[in-house]
Amino acid sequence: MAVIKVANRGAVREAAEVLKAGGLVGMPTETVYGLAANALDGMAVARIYEAKGRPAFNPLIVHVPDLAMAAEFVVVDDVARALARRFWPGPLTMILPKVQECGISDLVSAGLDTLAVRVPAHRVALDLLAAAGVPLAAPSANRSGSLSPTTPAHVSDSLGDDVDLILAAGPCAVGLESTVLDLSGDVPVVLRPGGVSAEDLSEVLGEDVVYGHKDIVSQGGKLKSPGMLLKHYAPEIPVRLNAIDLEEGEALLAFGSDRFMGVKGGGGARDLPEDMRCNLSEGADLHEAAANLFAMLAALDKSGARGIAVMAVPDTGLGCAINDRLQRASKGSVGDNE
Ligand code: TXA
Ligand code: MG
Repeated sequence: MAVIKVANRGAVREAAEVLKAGGLVGMPTETVYGLAANALDGMAVARIYEAKGRPAFNPLIVHVPDLAMAAEFVVVDDVARALARRFWPGPLTMILPKVQECGISDLVSAGLDTLAVRVPAHRVALDLLAAAGVPLAAPSANRSGSLSPTTPAHVSDSLGDDVDLILAAGPCAVGLESTVLDLSGDVPVVLRPGGVSAEDLSEVLGEDVVYGHKDIVSQGGKLKSPGMLLKHYAPEIPVRLNAIDLEEGEALLAFGSDRFMGVKGGGGARDLPEDMRCNLSEGADLHEAAANLFAMLAALDKSGARGIAVMAVPDTGLGCAINDRLQRASKGSVGDNE
């Protein structure tokens, strides 16, 4: 099993040594736990892909302590600068043109001439970046095709010995991944909805920001962000969306009140065994729902149910990101999962 340590100063120093020696660290961030490696060290980055079983063409996010370090690796224009001022540290990843010969391993950008960068809003992640003194490539710390980890236990369950040290700092506050914003084209495009909404981005940019993910997926067009494939967050058992009642044998993932959810053949949701019933947020709060999403899907997946029925979640603000994840979880595989 992986070594898990409470993220105190000694453990952070030790983790920085692991990173400098080419190892992998389970790093808490405000979004999900990351599987971090020194982004300047190609061998270390290769270990990330290996540990995740991730297709080599799928690029990774580079985590940096501040905008100044980001500017060593990507071309920061006025738009990026304004966004960084407003949202960094925080759950916004920006795709920007890569600085030539910048030292970041090509494996990180998977051959693209752009690079994804972000400054995580988590004390432990920032301390680790400071102690290691290098940019950290870090995808979500789960094996390809399984759920993104929001607790240290999820990381060790998914990756076992393939991660050298996990820094434990409790559950992640945001609970789903960062917003991925492509700034390398003519107009800003959200490639992956996440912790920062398009509405928030539009406010700073003074123009509408388009969600690229739905259009690209539905038009079957070329995927600019290879991670945006239909089946990304996939429990083992089928996931049924917008459920208004339950089939026999299904577990319930509720949002808001489940008082009127009936089970076909008799009874109500409230008669289900406790481990087959989760509520993303009884008070219908989207932030709470986001923070619970992956852990609850994972718990219901293990409940012995034959499927998961999910109540509708409003498609506004963070709800867009939640629904994006739920849709991926419910779709048939198109091959590549992270
Ligand atoms: O919240 C997060 O973003 C977490 C934490 C650990 O920071 N990280 C994360 O990384 O979710 P990952 O590797 O699971 O997702 C990165 C996404 C993928 O969809 C990938 O395809 C996309 O960003 N991406 C990375 N670099 C890209 C690039 N140069 N161009 C387009 N998409 C890129
Ligand atoms: Mg991931």
